[in-house]
Amino acid sequence: MKAVAVLPGKPNSVHLRDIPAPKLTDQPHPHVCRIPDGRAVLVKTLQIGVDATDREINEALYGNAPPGGDHLVIGHELFGRVLEVGSKVTEVKPGDFVSCTVRRPGGSLFDQIGRNDITSEEVYYERGINLCHGYLTESFVDDAEYIVKVPQNLKHLGVLSEPASVCAKAIEQAFLAQQRLQVWQPRRAFVMGAGQIGLLATMMLKLRGIEVYTLATKPGPHRKSEIVEAYGAKYISTKQTSLAELVKQVGKPDLIFEATGNAELCFRSMEVLAHNGALIWTSITGGKHEVTVDAARINLEWVLGNKLLVASVNGNRRHFELGIQALSHGEHTYPGVTERILTHPVNGLDGYKEMMQLLEDKEALKVYVNVAT
Ligand code: BGC
Ligand code: ZN
Repeated sequence: MKAVAVLPGKPNSVHLRDIPAPKLTDQPHPHVCRIPDGRAVLVKTLQIGVDATDREINEALYGNAPPGGDHLVIGHELFGRVLEVGSKVTEVKPGDFVSCTVRRPGGSLFDQIGRNDITSEEVYYERGINLCHGYLTESFVDDAEYIVKVPQNLKHLGVLSEPASVCAKAIEQAFLAQQRLQVWQPRRAFVMGAGQIGLLATMMLKLRGIEVYTLATKPGPHRKSEIVEAYGAKYISTKQTSLAELVKQVGKPDLIFEATGNAELCFRSMEVLAHNGALIWTSITGGKHEVTVDAARINLEWVLGNKLLVASVNGNRRHFELGIQALSHGEHTYPGVTERILTHPVNGLDGYKEMMQLLEDKEALKVYVNVAT
């Protein structure tokens, strides 16, 4: 069967290759974990979302092949349909729509309690990213433990399950950490960046009743600003209103969700957070980027203001469930808005070159591959 793979370490190596079709009895990542007897699920891939991580893997900035091979099947944002289940699987059945988590457990205590999303080991195992093959292929097998059901009436948004899990986790982490304050009730949030993560975070924060300002460069109106406004948030073009001006107009935010992919903005965000506020970092920034900041001022204000920085990556199955719930809640409250994120479909695995090209296109909000119907 067909799969889209790269040769990690070799730039622009994305290619189509033939791999054996999986069977229910396979062990997909025996170097990491084994599927217990009867707990395997065979899934047919329907759609795969791609993001900057896939682009960076193809640029050889990121990612490793599973041991013993030279290629890595990419794709970590899965929407699929169950084909077959093992005798001990009760959670899903053939025909169910599903997504699948990305990280597999390493050896730390966190991994042992099902929190592989916060493994304390430096080596992490992620399907389609690091040391485990991904989903950009026709079908795959995994442990029922990592398969998450997507409701039938949410199938048009199923491909957003993984990015939604990342947002839902990051926001939950901030709220959990803010329990240190006993009575934290954030009124105002800034979301930095209006890519898929920024937009989903905008929606999730609005669903919590927070006043949200979503900042990006390009002046509206355009699709991103329309989505932001349709969620009931305000779109701010930093070309028209700087971060400092926005703070002057509306006040400092209690919560900042940083998702620009720009390391400088991670630090600029530190300069505007309100007392007792939380700053969430989710950007994955490859390469090297040095910036100058007034470290004394930031330190002073952060200490005097009891501020908190929460960095968050990945999501385990509970975060997928939270993300899928948020997508459902969002669909109910803002019908038809979230699907506007799905801008650039690619037809079939054969379209892998177009898929990589679209990842370079700044206008492409979400690139995804329709693998099968
Ligand atoms: C994925 C996460 C993953 C992270 C780090 C992101 O693109 O969505 O699931 O943990 O990359 O590799
Ligand atoms: Zn990703």
